[in-house]
Amino acid sequence: MKIRTLSKIAAFITAASLIMTSCGSKQESQYAYEDSAPSLAEAFKDHFRVGAAINSWDISDPNSNQYKTIVKQFNTLVMENESKPDHLHPAEDRYDFDAFDKFVDFCVEHDITPRGHCLVWHSQVPGWMFKDGNKDASAELLLERMKEHITTVVTRYKGKVKSWDVCNEVIGDDGQLRFSDWSRIVGDYDGDGDKYDFIEEAFRAAREADPDARLMINDYSIESSTDKAIRMYNAVKQMLSEDVPIDGIGFQMHIGKGQSPEGLKECFDILKRLRDIKPDLVFEVTELDVNCYGWGQEKKDVELTDEFLEEFNKTYTDTYKVLLELADEGILDSVIMWGLHDGVSWLNDGHQNYPMLIDKDLKLKEAAYEVMDLA
Ligand code: G3I
Repeated sequence: MKIRTLSKIAAFITAASLIMTSCGSKQESQYAYEDSAPSLAEAFKDHFRVGAAINSWDISDPNSNQYKTIVKQFNTLVMENESKPDHLHPAEDRYDFDAFDKFVDFCVEHDITPRGHCLVWHSQVPGWMFKDGNKDASAELLLERMKEHITTVVTRYKGKVKSWDVCNEVIGDDGQLRFSDWSRIVGDYDGDGDKYDFIEEAFRAAREADPDARLMINDYSIESSTDKAIRMYNAVKQMLSEDVPIDGIGFQMHIGKGQSPEGLKECFDILKRLRDIKPDLVFEVTELDVNCYGWGQEKKDVELTDEFLEEFNKTYTDTYKVLLELADEGILDSVIMWGLHDGVSWLNDGHQNYPMLIDKDLKLKEAAYEVMDLA
């Protein structure tokens, strides 16, 4: 066996039996579901709720370790895929609420706050929404269908789902309003010069369906790209001036290892200025993970060297320090991780990634102990 392969195996073995530092003392890494293990939700209870994106099979067996981990570690949850429009509304005359109903019931049973992700998105939306026979649906038809979808879904979970991603990823990578079937077909429907109309109507429909639910506009890179943060600021400012009922900004936070805390703060500061217009605007972190690869970086399975782990753990602690500051300012009350553990993260696209606070064997990682120490 090559030396390189042996050192890789050694690195993995070391990682699997990590000696953890917690509260200044060394201790063995614990399974996240063990009674004696610390709980992320408990550790941060005076600051914000801590959650994860999960799937229906994670909560189907109360005796499973996933189930026990979820109940022990989290006090807010979201579905990774099964509350998206393509799942909930596969055909115009057919809804499939089974998985989301069970998820919401599970949350209610365990006193966990469920989020709803998401009502309007350019992806994972059923194709029929945009079609009228062989041609495109008209703006009127599309808006009518969108409102029907939002009203049906939000009304069903009224009073239970406390926070909705009403619109997801509407700002494009070029910093402009994303070009999508929504913006293309609906366009500047009210003739006021902007093309936010589908977003405006989505928020109004959601507010009407559940006046008490928190209505969020959710996006990625608004915590790391000042250009995108400014574009989001301008869009939300414009819509607030038109009385669109936006309650807060969802920061997905799919960040990369080495993300600087200064970069995060700069973006948060830009969007915090919306509070000059709407003093009770809130932030939620909705999809946090730490990608081990930079954009464009060649991917190979992660080697858990000391150097790697140090930088990875520091990215988490730097990030949580910024999040704790936001919580202390009273602007942030929820931090959700996008996945339950390393083994099931969407970032494992053919190569092993290492993005979460819980490893693929459901053990709390060193970074988990370090962020809990901050609280
Ligand atoms: O359900 C089908 C299954 O029937 C089929 O056999 C299989 C074959 O590929 O695909 C399954 O659908 C997959 C779906 O996840 C459910 O597992 C899709 O291919 C796959 O593309 C989809 O990926 C999801 C992705 O959103 C879609 O854009 C990821 O799991 C999910 O983590 C990811 O989540 C998004 C957030 O919603 C928004 N922010 C970014 C985040 C990460 O991309």
